[in-house]
Amino acid sequence: MAATASRRPNVRAVLTRIAAVQPRLHQAAVETNLALVEDLVRDAHRVHAPDLIVLPAEIGAARDSGAQARPVDGAPLALLRQLAAELQCVVAGGASAVRGRDAYATYFLVEPDGRIHLHDKNTASGREQFRLRSGSDDGLTAVVAWHRARVGLVSGLEWAQVRTAARLRAAAAGLVVGGQAGDTWPLADRADLTGRLPGLMARQVGAPVVMAAHSSVGGTQICDRDGTVLARLDRADGEGHVSATVRLGPSEPIDRPRGGTWTVDLGRATVSALRTLTAVGATTYRLRRTTRRFAWQDCPATDLPDELGPGGPRPHRGGSLPAREVVVTARRALADGVVGLTFSAADGGLLPVWAAGAHIDLLLPNDLIRQYSLCGEPTSGRFDIAVLDVPGGRGGSRWIHQNLMPGERLQVRGPRNHFALSAGSQPVFLAGGIGITPIRAMVHEARARGLDWRLIYGGRTHSAMAFVDELRALDPQRVRVVPLDVDGLLDLDGTVANLPGRAEVFACGPAGMLEVLEKLFAEDTTGRLHLERFEPRLSPVDRVDADFTITLASSGRQMVVPAHRRALDVLREAGVPVDSACRAGVCGSCAVRVLDGTPDHRDSIGESGRPENAMMVCVSRSLTPDLTLEV
Ligand code: FES
Repeated sequence: MAATASRRPNVRAVLTRIAAVQPRLHQAAVETNLALVEDLVRDAHRVHAPDLIVLPAEIGAARDSGAQARPVDGAPLALLRQLAAELQCVVAGGASAVRGRDAYATYFLVEPDGRIHLHDKNTASGREQFRLRSGSDDGLTAVVAWHRARVGLVSGLEWAQVRTAARLRAAAAGLVVGGQAGDTWPLADRADLTGRLPGLMARQVGAPVVMAAHSSVGGTQICDRDGTVLARLDRADGEGHVSATVRLGPSEPIDRPRGGTWTVDLGRATVSALRTLTAVGATTYRLRRTTRRFAWQDCPATDLPDELGPGGPRPHRGGSLPAREVVVTARRALADGVVGLTFSAADGGLLPVWAAGAHIDLLLPNDLIRQYSLCGEPTSGRFDIAVLDVPGGRGGSRWIHQNLMPGERLQVRGPRNHFALSAGSQPVFLAGGIGITPIRAMVHEARARGLDWRLIYGGRTHSAMAFVDELRALDPQRVRVVPLDVDGLLDLDGTVANLPGRAEVFACGPAGMLEVLEKLFAEDTTGRLHLERFEPRLSPVDRVDADFTITLASSGRQMVVPAHRRALDVLREAGVPVDSACRAGVCGSCAVRVLDGTPDHRDSIGESGRPENAMMVCVSRSLTPDLTLEV
């Protein structure tokens, strides 16, 4: 069921259109349920044009399947990120997530620019007790898309807890958002109780409330701050979505939270059973974890901080993205000297959804790590890359051309993305040679979003230009192909001089081409030039290196980075686990967040691609005597 479509409000900072989605999920693979959720979200967006779409907790499973936990940076979060970026609205939903050495019921809120806010549910419910741990964060976050409005994230049994309402009320939350799962015992079969929870929460916090539930529980609601139900789906309504417009503003509590533990009367027998179940479940969980009986314990440990800036889910507190094993499932010639490779998950599952502009690290033999842009279909569950044979190169592409055949296995890390398509409505894509790989995915995304795009694609010869016929066939009016042997070099000066007023340029190609573009945009302060590099910038940095001191925020430890050494190496020597791949300021894998001091950025990623407040410790130094890093 879908409510009547409504126009997007003019004053986004005050009135916000919110859609809540109620899916019918199955006892099926997580990836199958995620595909169902994706369809519903797209439909909700088409019908309601909302600023926020709220999904239930546990979007990967109908109920406990015993195996649905995924790494916190895995498929569920990747889907939410993809939808937020593509639909340009905030998307919230929950999933069982492995963080560090434990699994939690985590609720995610993702902003269109890639900012991510995470909340681990503090009380597992029903069967969750046996497979999840309780979190301890407060679930309060500041959403930048709404001028840093304070939003409370709530999940499952937290909706019925007095302490949740009291906490959000004390923090003056301006909006409360969250979900129910399919097996939220003791609420799953108590429609009389779940139906009252959002209204009670709204009046006690004094803020609008959105609760999305699985169709097996029902009770999806959007309530105004006085508890008035603005939109609702019950269990009998089945799968669907509803929307309403609410006003974001200072909270105005009406009721006081009542005493005791629960905001509704669960009954003595239920409360007592819940207590017993909690104790037994926690013990069972510890035992299973100790004996390594959870399937997710076979994955490399991973985690994310509770708040991430734009630029994607990478751990800015140091640590590494997990490597995963893939197998080559297809290999084909794409152009002269260019081979296309398809990787599938070696365990037969699906690889994460990614967004156009993303790249992965290939961990090749002989300790070679090479980055390749993904150029296929972001939701296919596979990774597609195109590799140019560079006979005099650094060895990676040559090895791939000679050795990587169907059936071969290798390790990959990522995806990462510092070249995402922004909300600009007129992207101009400039591709030189093999630089077409990220651009190909971006062109398809721009078409899917209905953007007014153009592509100018240069290469040595027509036969050496991968994807050239396919791209030209998409829309010959929008694509200009410039083979060097026929038309000469790309006219970058003329292209930049004649850019439409709102154009944003996304360019990938040889270092010389990108340096010319940087010079042409040297006076432009709008940040509308976005570059993806395969190699470091050509121009040397004309600053003298000096010693500086690093302070580790986590421990207060200090260490000196001498003028002749990299911060990356000093950190590693001190036992701080920081990723690296290119060691040349190109790939973004060594990004670490700076909490204090001014970094001297020497990477080739640039302002628009670098995660907020991060520095690439493989090449960057400091403009101040001290830097405090979030590690
Ligand atoms: S290791 Fe690639 S940017 Fe630092």
